[in-house]
Amino acid sequence: MSAPREQFGSRLGFILAAAGSAVGIGNMVGFPVAATKNGGGAFLLIYAIFVFFICLPVMLAEMSIGRHTQKDPLGAYNKISGHKQPWTMAGWLSIITPFMIAVFYMVITVWIFGYLFNSMIGNLEFLAKPDTFGNFINSSDIFIFLAVVTGLVYLILLGGVQEGIEKAAKLLMPTLFFMLIGMVIFVLTLDNAFAGVEYYLIPDFSKITASTVSAALSQAFFSLSLGMGIMITYGSYLNRSNGVPGAAKMVALTDTAVAFIAGLMILPAVFSFNPDTNTADLSDSSVSMIFSFLPKIFLALQSSIGYTGASVVASVFFLLVFFAAITSLVSILEVPNAALMDERNLDRKTSLLVLGVAMLTLSIVSITSFGMMDFFTSFVSYAGQSKSFFDVLVDVFYDTILPFNGFLICIFVIYRWKRANFNAELDHGEPSYKGSFYEKYVDFSVGTFIPAILLLIFINTVAIKFFGTGLIG
Ligand code: PHE
Repeated sequence: MSAPREQFGSRLGFILAAAGSAVGIGNMVGFPVAATKNGGGAFLLIYAIFVFFICLPVMLAEMSIGRHTQKDPLGAYNKISGHKQPWTMAGWLSIITPFMIAVFYMVITVWIFGYLFNSMIGNLEFLAKPDTFGNFINSSDIFIFLAVVTGLVYLILLGGVQEGIEKAAKLLMPTLFFMLIGMVIFVLTLDNAFAGVEYYLIPDFSKITASTVSAALSQAFFSLSLGMGIMITYGSYLNRSNGVPGAAKMVALTDTAVAFIAGLMILPAVFSFNPDTNTADLSDSSVSMIFSFLPKIFLALQSSIGYTGASVVASVFFLLVFFAAITSLVSILEVPNAALMDERNLDRKTSLLVLGVAMLTLSIVSITSFGMMDFFTSFVSYAGQSKSFFDVLVDVFYDTILPFNGFLICIFVIYRWKRANFNAELDHGEPSYKGSFYEKYVDFSVGTFIPAILLLIFINTVAIKFFGTGLIG
C-alpha cells in the first residue's frame, strides 16, 4: 500500500500556490514593458480578454483533469486514455516541457539572486555598469548562487505539498504583494512619475498589429503557467470537495492584477529617471530590462534618497522578483517530481534527489553556454543563426511546445475524456457553475477555437523560429 496522496490543506492554500506559480518574472517586468511598447491600455484590454476568454478555459481543463485523476500529467493522460497513443506521448511532453523550462527559469532565477545579493551588500554601482551583466553571467560566482537557489527550492519541495509548497506560498505571496504596493507608493512620489503612468495606461490602438496580438496571447498563456502540466499537478493535490472554477478565476485575477500593478512600479521609475524616454528605448527582453536597464535607474535614485536608499529600493525590487521566481520554480519542478513519485513509486526524498542531479547537470550546461564553453555556446544553428544550448531550450520548449501542449490538452479533454465528463468534474464542488453562461462558453471554446488558435500559434512559431519565415510577426 502506498501512502495516501498528499493534498493542499485548504482551498486558499491551493489558490495561493497556483497564483504563486502564475506570478513570476513574466509579471514583474515582461508584462509592463510589453504593454508600454505595444499600445498601453489597448494592450491591457486585449491581454485581459485573452486571460479570461482563452487562457482561463485552458486552466480549467488542466485543473479538472488533475483533480479528477489525482495523478501527475503523464499518469493523468494514461489513466483517461487507457495508456493509448498519441496521449501517452502528450503525457510525456507535459513532463519533459516543465523540466526543460525549469532549467531556463533556474538560470534566470540564479542571476536574480546574484543581483539581489549584490544590491544588498552595497554593490549597486557595480551592477549599474554597462558590462557588468556580461561578466557576471560568466563569473564563477554563478555556481555559488546556483547552489543556494537549488538548496532553497529543494528544501521547499522536500517539505511536501502542505508543509513545503503551501507554506512557502502562504508566506511569500502576501509578502510579495505588500512589497509591491510599497514600491508603487514610493515610485509614484518621484518627479515625473505620472508621465510613466500615462505611457502605460493611455490606449494607442494604432500600435495593435497581428504580432502584438499574438505576443499578448503568448504572454498571457505563459503568465498563467499553462501548457507545463503545473495546473494538472496542483489540481491533483486538490480535494474533490473544493471547487475548481472559482479557484481558477481567483488565480487568473491575482496574476493579472499583479502584472498590472507591477507596471505602476516599473514605468514611473523609468520615466522619473528620464522623462523623455522613448518607449523604443525600453529593452525588448525582460532579461536586459532587469539586468541592464533597471540597475541604472535604481542607481540614479541616489540623488534624491542617497546611495543607501537607492540600494534598499534595488534590494526590495530584486527580492520581489526573487520571491515571484521561487514560487514559480517550485511549481514547475513539482511536475517531474510528481511524475517520478507516481510513475516510479519513489518517495519524495529519492525522487527529488534524482531530479536534483539531473537539474543541476543541465543548469550547469546552460550556465556554460554564454561563453564559458564553446561547444554549448555555439550549440547548433538553424534559420541562419547560431544558437546556444540556452537559446535552444527557450526556442523549443518555451516558445514552441508550450502552445502545442495547450492544444493537446484541449483536444484531449473534449474529444477523448469527453465534454460531459469535463463539465461534470467542474460542477463537482461548485454547483453554481452548472448551467452557467461561463460553463457553456468553456465547453464550446475548448472544443473549437481555442485549440485552433493555439495550433496556429504553434505552426507560426515553428515557421519563424526554425525556418525563418512566418505568417504573423
Ligand atoms: N507564470 C510564470 C511567469 O510569469 C511562468 C512560469 C511559471 C515559469 C512556472 C516557470 C515556471 O514568470
